[in-house]
Amino acid sequence: MEPLRNAGIAAAEETLDPQDWAGVQALSHEIVDDAIGYLRDVRDRPVWREMPADVKAVFDASLPRSPAPLGQIYRELAATVMAYPMGNVHPRFWGWYMGAGNFTGALGDFLAAVQGSNLGGGNHAAAAMDQQVVNWCKQMLGFPASASGTLVSGGSMANVIALAVARNSKAGVDVREEGVAAIAKPLRFYASDQVHSCHRKAVEVLGLGNRALQRLPTDRDLRIDIAALRRAIAEDRAAGLQPACVIGTAGTVNTGAIDDLQALADLAAGEGLWFHVDGCIGALIAVAPENSRKVAGIERADSVALDPHKWLHAPFEAGCVLVRDAAAHRDSFAVTPEYLERMPRGLAAAPWLHEYGLQTSRGFRALKIWMALREHGIEKFGRLIDQNIAQAGYLSGLIEAEPRLELLAPANINIVCFRFQPGGMAGDALKALNTEIMLRLQEEGTAMLSDTTVRGGHYLRVAINNHRTRRDDLDLLIREIVRIGSELSRQTLAG
Ligand SMILES: Cc1ncc(COP(=O)(O)O)c(C=O)c1O
Repeated sequence: MEPLRNAGIAAAEETLDPQDWAGVQALSHEIVDDAIGYLRDVRDRPVWREMPADVKAVFDASLPRSPAPLGQIYRELAATVMAYPMGNVHPRFWGWYMGAGNFTGALGDFLAAVQGSNLGGGNHAAAAMDQQVVNWCKQMLGFPASASGTLVSGGSMANVIALAVARNSKAGVDVREEGVAAIAKPLRFYASDQVHSCHRKAVEVLGLGNRALQRLPTDRDLRIDIAALRRAIAEDRAAGLQPACVIGTAGTVNTGAIDDLQALADLAAGEGLWFHVDGCIGALIAVAPENSRKVAGIERADSVALDPHKWLHAPFEAGCVLVRDAAAHRDSFAVTPEYLERMPRGLAAAPWLHEYGLQTSRGFRALKIWMALREHGIEKFGRLIDQNIAQAGYLSGLIEAEPRLELLAPANINIVCFRFQPGGMAGDALKALNTEIMLRLQEEGTAMLSDTTVRGGHYLRVAINNHRTRRDDLDLLIREIVRIGSELSRQTLAG
């Protein structure tokens, strides 16, 4: 018989591995050195800047057919992608709702990719770590060890998975087998009118339709009006609909309002409804010693969506859903095709993690979360959350002290809504002025904030979910807003 080592040697077989390992090693060291400098010096760069035409043109280049040296590719990337980021790692990025990333997490992503495991499941270390991180999330929120959970791309996926389990548990028919058309009475889900837009996508994709999600009015503090919720449930029952699920929000995206989770837990238990908490913004306040009481009751939820890529600053993407009833969770997603049967021994001798969500192949998201948690410990993350909340309080104070600024309401957690008011301006003119201030701040690279509309009023919105922010960054923000706002108002008057 021909010796094994000779088999196929004549064919020109290729691989993606480097031909020159030493060269790749030297370049990789350079990339790591640059990456460290990139984060160390982030404060010295603009938060954001517009891409010039020649940079944009790079992304119009067509499919490469032939090879290029990796060193050259990296230099192109350094001048394009790395030079024109979104900016959320910058200390003065406070737009929408992001995390600021962390270098250890980036190393975790790198090592996860090098190790290359598929977290669809199996009997290997990465899968064990994935489960460990889910268990740590349960511990952070006070969820029982018997609950299940899965790491997903982010909060939107976490919510859709939780709402799918809620739908299946409350439908009264086997939705997986029969479909939503077999549900006897249309299901109703309830949330406040401040609920995140991903819930609309969730009820739509779950076949329930947007109308199934009842948005209820909010109280003075923009928290769901519990009396209105109680009335809506009674009216829906009387109208032949089937109330199924209450979604409480722990930290709304507009203002950071936290629904009364204890009251919602009581109400859901009394009405026999599923109680889901969208904790993408605020669930992790549970680990912050000075503020944890704000999310009391979250541990009573049937399911919670949380986002390690927000207040744990895991590099995107990292979301997590926890479900109290592990069997209901698995029953909503588990399928065992013939090629994925569990074995008594070997690599397939462990639970399949894909049985708890929509993905079959899953990335090793756990490592970046695990490394940062091991490095800093959860107590430091708790302190950083308290720090951001205190910074939002500080910013509210600066705004209140400045007569040309109007504060929507004192910050509840880390989101502050306010606007520049030159005096007596209203409506579209006021919105246009504040929008222009926001765009100038972005274009000048000073700070990134976004805007929103609350109760019909337009506001600038600062969400401080950033472990690099310092109070002097907030001082600078207020100085610059007042400077730009005053200049623009003078120009308007002159014009
Ligand atoms: C309250 C809330 N829910 C859900 C989401 C969606 O999370 P993700 O962007 O991670 O999908 C967000 C995003 O900011 C949010 O603020």
